[in-house]
Amino acid sequence: MTETDAPEANPLREGLPRTRVPEPCAVVLFGATGDLTHRKLMPALYNLARGGHLPAECAVVGYARRDWDDARFRSEIEASLKKADLPDFAAVWPQFAPRLAFAGGTFDDPKAYARLKAKLEALDATHGTRGNRLFYLAVAPEYFATIVEHLGRAGLVHSPHQEAPWSRVVVEKPFGHDLKSARALSRDVSRVLDESQVYRIDHYLGKETVQNILALRFGNSMFEPVWNRRHVAGVQITVAEEVGMAGNRGAYYDTSGAIRDMVQNHMMQLLCLVAMEPPVDLSADAVRNEKVKVLQALPDWSDADVAANVVRAQYGPGSIQGAEAPGYHQEKGIPDGSTTGTYVALRLTLNTWRWAGVPFYLRTGKRLPKRATEIAIQFHRPPTALFEADTEGAGGANLLILRIQPNEGASLAFQAKIPGSRRRLQEVRMDFRYGTAFATPPPEAYERLLLDVMLGDPSLFTRTDEVDSAWRFVGAILDAWDRGVGPPVAYPAGTWGPPEADGLIGRDGGTWRRL
Ligand code: BG6
Repeated sequence: MTETDAPEANPLREGLPRTRVPEPCAVVLFGATGDLTHRKLMPALYNLARGGHLPAECAVVGYARRDWDDARFRSEIEASLKKADLPDFAAVWPQFAPRLAFAGGTFDDPKAYARLKAKLEALDATHGTRGNRLFYLAVAPEYFATIVEHLGRAGLVHSPHQEAPWSRVVVEKPFGHDLKSARALSRDVSRVLDESQVYRIDHYLGKETVQNILALRFGNSMFEPVWNRRHVAGVQITVAEEVGMAGNRGAYYDTSGAIRDMVQNHMMQLLCLVAMEPPVDLSADAVRNEKVKVLQALPDWSDADVAANVVRAQYGPGSIQGAEAPGYHQEKGIPDGSTTGTYVALRLTLNTWRWAGVPFYLRTGKRLPKRATEIAIQFHRPPTALFEADTEGAGGANLLILRIQPNEGASLAFQAKIPGSRRRLQEVRMDFRYGTAFATPPPEAYERLLLDVMLGDPSLFTRTDEVDSAWRFVGAILDAWDRGVGPPVAYPAGTWGPPEADGLIGRDGGTWRRL
């Protein structure tokens, strides 16, 4: 959120309701010295405080394996927030700092959890946090089950059947490594927590532009009637990244690859929002019921299907925007001979009434020429070509492009007559940009998501059956790869992926969009 949420600050938002302020609570960040806490969670909490969205009675407790006290934690956070150059620091920090506290310990030490409990009870008294607890697991996935178990044993989890005080646990991705491990993790977590207390984060759902997919589809009467196989020829979903193995991510990434890191979660969520049926209402369960049906309609692929419909690739050395870029094997933490795919392209169809036969093309990769996430809905061409097309490839196919990031917005491409005596058409665009329309860039995903957990709204979090269904689909691909199907091909860093991916879409007569 930004200060522009205050109606007086932004004339375009006059009269719009202000965001609700959550109940008092303590936020406990496991992994408080980690990258996610510094880069995303603390700035998000700071911005929430700055925008007046945090309750006055709110404390943030960092938990990590350090021998720090509150003062040391505050000075570390102060340094990292200063580096992030957040607005109004001089005014906001003095009010934000006293909310911060630290509890040191390992993730499996019962005594450390007892100390955490005592600390939280002390904060209830000093900061008025009233026993409400939000535990955020910003840690490596192998610690999820251990932390949840210890929270339970230490008596830090309240019953889900009481309104207050409440306990909620946010779990970062990846939720499991495959279907089996995701189910095992769900089982472990469910021994301590009710499903209503578990918030599985997929930060793409916190992005305004992602939420806008449903607004665009179901808040307008002109799109929904054409949102089906009769009018849509194909859908392209691209999540392109320029970055490679930033920081020390190599070791983690190598166990994951593009398919687990991006496809199983973020891309499946984008697909769900594009393809789902209208929910009966916007309640968390109604929306998630429809999303899970999309995942259940994903194909059951044999090895031959995987070979025909999936391209896996790994980047080699190249250059991005004039600067030399290393190959995957030259990055820190990548084991010799790794075959992990840093790029995946898929062609799939959904087995539903609405989408039968419509190809969905998904691609994502690291070290592509630029960062760009978009969804392009390509409509059928008109049945006859009455007009001359001006440029090759033009010829009347309308295109709706949802720009998820950057340049957040949407454009509708259609044909218009070029002025003059000839009957020639050219593609033109109607463009919507967040910055121009709302006079503010969309807020960071983590701000919205943290606020929703505090408010107890699980709509933008993934339910266990969604995670399961996404793993079922991705698992078939992983199993086929394990059997030697579709070995990775190469692409130079700074290119749009391997030629094999062009073949995937080319066989339907299409091309990937140039972004
Ligand atoms: C994370 C992935 O979930 O999403 C990263 O683990 C990826 O590999 C990141 O870079 C992309 O997020 P965003 O918001 O920058 O598109």
